[in-house]
Amino acid sequence: MKILLTGAHGNLGSQLLSTFAAAGHTVLATEREDLDITDEAVVMSFVVEHKPEVIINAAAYNLVDKVEDPATYKIAYAINALGPKYLAAAAKSAGALLVHYSTDYVFAGDKTDGYTEDDATHPLSKYGATKVAGEKFVIESGAKYYLCRLSKIFGPAGTSGAAKQSFVELITGLAKTKPELRIVNEEVGMPSYTCDIAAETLRLITTNTPVGIYHLVNTGKGVTWYQFAEEIFALAPSSTPRIPVLGSEFPRPAPRPAFAAIRNTKLPAMRSRQAALAEYLATIK
Ligand SMILES: NC(=O)c1ccc[n+]([C@@H]2O[C@H](COP(=O)([O-])OP(=O)(O)OC[C@H]3O[C@@H](n4cnc5c(N)ncnc54)[C@H](OP(=O)(O)O)[C@@H]3O)[C@@H](O)[C@H]2O)c1
Repeated sequence: MKILLTGAHGNLGSQLLSTFAAAGHTVLATEREDLDITDEAVVMSFVVEHKPEVIINAAAYNLVDKVEDPATYKIAYAINALGPKYLAAAAKSAGALLVHYSTDYVFAGDKTDGYTEDDATHPLSKYGATKVAGEKFVIESGAKYYLCRLSKIFGPAGTSGAAKQSFVELITGLAKTKPELRIVNEEVGMPSYTCDIAAETLRLITTNTPVGIYHLVNTGKGVTWYQFAEEIFALAPSSTPRIPVLGSEFPRPAPRPAFAAIRNTKLPAMRSRQAALAEYLATIK
């Protein structure tokens, strides 16, 4: 299949590129300088010229706290909302399938048994608002789409110079240098492995899965940052003391949902978070 991939050097994009290329697909891997998704005319002419069968949008603006600033909000809205709108319009006119990724931050976080694919969105942060706007543009576009929501992702850092390391490297690195770790015991999420998300995306596309909204998460119960750190240290032991603390100890501009565990109720279960984490930790030792 001929696949157009945006954000190909980001954390998820890099894994999508290697997974789809290894499966024998032709991937037009693009970054901002090749294809700026906020430029409507460029997006349309790129798709008309290259005629991809599938467009996978892994481009995004993810610096959640910065989006609270009005000037940055405009940039984030262009990338997270207008970008998917233009890609969906181009996909529709080319008859291509669009895969777009969203986030658990589209939810308010007050539903303690987890959010299903059909639950109503209610973002708390401006970042979440840009992602909801992007979701709506995709859903209303008339294009064939998979709208895949993700929670906190971990895996190898993307190949872009700006790619952030994931919580797994961050916390294992800090455990080697700090006398103790104070870790926020709030904000329940479903940390998931980018390699598994990429593999699941490939499975969706190649198994004729019905279009719609999906939650791509490793199987497990929702965990706070502290609980996730304990899962990591159970597999990669450290003697550094860990102390669970309130989020108010590290104030941040953007409000986060307290309980944003998203549930996969529509697809076969992905493997367990522990199995994914064990495999990933073995690669970074
Ligand atoms: N990270 C998480 O924990 C998390 C959690 C839930 C959902 N998600 C979702 O997962 C998806 C992938 O996130 P990620 O963490 O892999 O992102 P990432 O590492 O920040 O990568 C995003 C990529 O998008 C590119 N990009 C930004 N603006 C662009 C533009 N105008 N045109 C083309 N490319 C542009 C960036 O390039 P530059 O380097 O040039 O800016 C970067 O390579 C996003 O939809 C995100 O919302 C992520």
